[in-house]
Amino acid sequence: MRPRPRPELEALAPAVHGGGAAPGELDASTALSPLAPPDEVVAAARAAALDRYPPVDAAPLRAAYARAAELTDGPDGVAIGAGSVELIWALARAFAGPDRRVVVAAPAFGEYAQAARASGATVTIAWTAREHDAGFTWDGAPLARALTDGAEAALVFLARPGSPTLVAPEPAALAALAAAHPRTLFVVDEAYQPVAAELPPLRPSENVAVLRSDTKLLGLAGLRLGALLAAAPVARAVRAALPPWNVSAPAQAAGLVAVEALARELAPRRARLAALAAAQRALVADDRLAPRAAALTFTVYRISGAPAVVAAAAARGVRLRDCTSFGLPGCVRVGLVDAPDQPRLAAALRAALDEVRPTS
Ligand SMILES: Cc1ncc(COP(=O)(O)O)c(C=O)c1O
Repeated sequence: MRPRPRPELEALAPAVHGGGAAPGELDASTALSPLAPPDEVVAAARAAALDRYPPVDAAPLRAAYARAAELTDGPDGVAIGAGSVELIWALARAFAGPDRRVVVAAPAFGEYAQAARASGATVTIAWTAREHDAGFTWDGAPLARALTDGAEAALVFLARPGSPTLVAPEPAALAALAAAHPRTLFVVDEAYQPVAAELPPLRPSENVAVLRSDTKLLGLAGLRLGALLAAAPVARAVRAALPPWNVSAPAQAAGLVAVEALARELAPRRARLAALAAAQRALVADDRLAPRAAALTFTVYRISGAPAVVAAAAARGVRLRDCTSFGLPGCVRVGLVDAPDQPRLAAALRAALDEVRPTS
């Protein structure tokens, strides 16, 4: 006899993520900006009061997000999380659960299915990216089918653009899908919207909620801060599924400054990242690497012998991301590193390719 957790949790292995490089290793396994964060945002985090509780549900930061996004429902349409991943889990607690169905547009970030399964929901995976020699393209038919076949879906997770394929539905197609399924909540994760090619941010509607993870562009992933922009009843339900004080005082203080900084920083940061990314791609280029997707902070390559190449690079102290866990075996995501680290990245990748796929 022993205490037994809910069976869906007992059966759940952790999702795979990049990051976690040891000191001295070069981490190209994530897709974050390598640029230093804005000084004023870091200063605000450092100056935050640690001797008292922060606003219980981040009301000032919710107001700042609502103003910046000009939300119809104001701060009531915002929920703030310790990273957008906390909001993904809160969305699953609020809208999924036992006897409900969740559809995930794949390939995808592993936490959508993880959070849905942890809630006890049934998960349907809909493949929305088609691979060609030139890259990936969006294919909406499997998602439309997944929504009409079987029980009504309570929740759909899709990323705009997709991770790591960078495919995205047209806003009109998404609006049509949402209109056809008014009782389904469509969660559009825009974590990579700021670092992708020109995709204007989406506006939330009654059954479309948008997740923002602006810390990726600002180089502040360690702060743990994300936002959900939604219709008020959706955001209210998500706030009810979050614990009080879920976002720390430093994260809230930094977030208030970051919302302002973002408007100023977006264009110049994108330009600096584009130059860095072009330099890295030129340095890394090799006939044995077939580029499939290119954002400002990462490139996805199809590589013959991908897991062995990732392992051989790791043996040389350089971490890359095997895309098998996204559902893309044979692909490797190479994150953007800063200019001084690029020669080391390129040398390790070339040596790994020489070891696994020697040219004759
Ligand atoms: C597509 C996507 N969404 C959300 C997240 C979570 O980001 P955060 O919790 O740092 O906001 C990640 C992290 O890698 C991601 O890749």
